[in-house]
Amino acid sequence: MILTGKAAVAGVMGWPVTHSKSPRLHGFWLEKYGIDGTYIPMEVTPDNFAKAVHGMQAAGMRGCNVTVPHKEKALKIADDASARAHKIGAANTLVFKEDGSIYADNTDGFGFMENLKAGAPDWDLKAGPAVVLGAGGAARAVLVALAEAGCPEIRLTNRTKERAINLADELDHTIHVVDWNEREESLAGCNLLTNTTTLGMTGQHLLEIDIFDMPKTALVSDIVYAPLMTNLLEKAHVHGCSVVDGLGMLLHQARPGFKEWFGTDPEVDAKLREFVLAED
Ligand code: ATR
Repeated sequence: MILTGKAAVAGVMGWPVTHSKSPRLHGFWLEKYGIDGTYIPMEVTPDNFAKAVHGMQAAGMRGCNVTVPHKEKALKIADDASARAHKIGAANTLVFKEDGSIYADNTDGFGFMENLKAGAPDWDLKAGPAVVLGAGGAARAVLVALAEAGCPEIRLTNRTKERAINLADELDHTIHVVDWNEREESLAGCNLLTNTTTLGMTGQHLLEIDIFDMPKTALVSDIVYAPLMTNLLEKAHVHGCSVVDGLGMLLHQARPGFKEWFGTDPEVDAKLREFVLAED
């Protein structure tokens, strides 16, 4: 795509940033919709983060995605932020407004929910309890999204129980913390099981969990997407549950930023999935 002088410019800041799939996925959409714009990777050290953001803004760019380790700073640097970014305490999307202000959003929970809706359109989040494995940054976004969407009961379990207790205390929804050793019992009668830990990821330990007692009507999702079919999803599929892999969360979380910077709500489809995966 040859740019004009009016081209919209956005990108992703991370440290490191070379592993990021965002340039490829935004590039796919820019090409698909024939948009006069570009999206670039920016390797920015923590010390340079504020300078880099203000520099982008001063240069007339539209905004950026922000990834590790800048997500908390991104929220602090903004003049205004969405309620979900405040609740999560971190932002992954910055928008430079025409009035000169910086707006921060966190779209991870949106990506999580949209992925469930797209992958299991007939499944109803309000039909029963959700079990969330893990209490890191990803869990926080998932918990906020589940609470906002009206999940009737949330059971949270993490290897380090204290982290789960602290997280549950911080969020205003009622969250029942379950001992990691009792994670299997917590599956009784559940309607959703989500893994937000790094277990099952290529190069990490497998997630050890017996799902024998989980209802077959439960939906099982993983935020890990390498491999696409994690050992948890394989097991759940064999058990008879519907499963949703983690790639869709990554793709859907990118939509709000793209819409703000480039003016189109882009579609997540099979071609995009194939294109993003083909890189590996
Ligand atoms: P992120 O911000 O991406 O969620 P994180 O904050 O490092 O990443 O969280 C990783 C999650 O995976 C945590 O819930 C972690 O459990 P602890 O809080 O006990 O560290 C979980 N995790 C990582 N390795 C694990 C393992 N071997 N067994 C159980 N849980 C593990």
